[in-house]
Amino acid sequence: MARPRVLSGVQPTGSLHLGNWLGAIRNWVDLQDSHDTFFCVVDLHAITVPHDPARLAEDTLSTAALYLACGIDPARSTVFVQSQVSAHSELAWLLNCVTPLNWLERMIQFKEKALKQGDNVSVGLLDYPVLMAADILLYDADLVPVGEDQKQHLELARDIAQQRINARFAPRDPSGEPIAILRVPEPLILKQGARVMSLTDGSSKMSKSDPNEGSRINLLDSPELISKKIKRAKTDPVMGLVFGDPERPEADNLLGLYALLAGLSPEQAAADCAQMGWGQFKPLLAEAAVEALRPVQQRYSELRADPAGLLQVLEQGRCRATDVADATLARVRQALGFLA
Ligand code: TYM
Repeated sequence: MARPRVLSGVQPTGSLHLGNWLGAIRNWVDLQDSHDTFFCVVDLHAITVPHDPARLAEDTLSTAALYLACGIDPARSTVFVQSQVSAHSELAWLLNCVTPLNWLERMIQFKEKALKQGDNVSVGLLDYPVLMAADILLYDADLVPVGEDQKQHLELARDIAQQRINARFAPRDPSGEPIAILRVPEPLILKQGARVMSLTDGSSKMSKSDPNEGSRINLLDSPELISKKIKRAKTDPVMGLVFGDPERPEADNLLGLYALLAGLSPEQAAADCAQMGWGQFKPLLAEAAVEALRPVQQRYSELRADPAGLLQVLEQGRCRATDVADATLARVRQALGFLA
């Protein structure tokens, strides 16, 4: 029997950070043994906000290299670049024409990002979740491993597939039963790491777009920089690190990071740090972060030293992804009544 499908992606905008790793990529790695896994670098999404053309290709390559450095194995997973599989843009257009505008206008991320952009909001930014739905639906994905912030976009992808395509256009089998055109995906959001918060404000998400570099740890930060950022991270005047105190979001966030990076259960981390002051805890957290990222950074340098090898992985990924995506696109075109 075919293994269930997984698809996910990260935008090649700037450096990937601990949130991208712990909330998403880390969870992709384990799925490779049990699922048929597709991971794309979503470069078309990266141009929904103003971007630097001189950096896009390089950032796309470095993001792909980070996937591999984090443990994505091209022998078991299809790794590819979104813009190199034209079915993504084409399905996005078809889905655009059946998606109600007000579904997009109520997306939280759109509202947040649009607020930051002022007068310069592109149609692409509004349309971002439809392109994301196309990414997922093209591969008949059963599961989409993402961080908490993508939950609403996943709901939208499900609604488009179910209500706007299958319910309206599904052909019928001889007994009159509808034959689904698109598979309706489920999100996979693991509790631990699903929402990594900023180092400078425990109540806002760690994000690539935060202008304060000190708010995030990038996967390629040097050990010195990691220690410096953790040393400067926001704290509170209370002794002892605990989970779940709404008055202490920084303690909750940093203790959660420590558990994940040191490979401890939340209970173990909480027990170890219950009596610790910040001065004792922070060097421990810095060491855990440096040690967890060391093998990723080492593997990343090796991969970047062999650009031809990386391009070969992406070319192989492009071919496999195109085969799967084109078949789905053909199904949708047919259901919508286009001339064959
Ligand atoms: P992006 O690049 O913004 O984020 C990539 C992944 O990282 C997760 N993430 C976080 N997780 C925990 N804590 C954080 N602070 C944090 N910040 C980011 C995101 O939830 C995401 O899983 N729209 C997607 C990209 C995309 C996509 C797709 C994902 C495009 N098409 C199809 C899945 C399937 C995004 O947010 O990218």
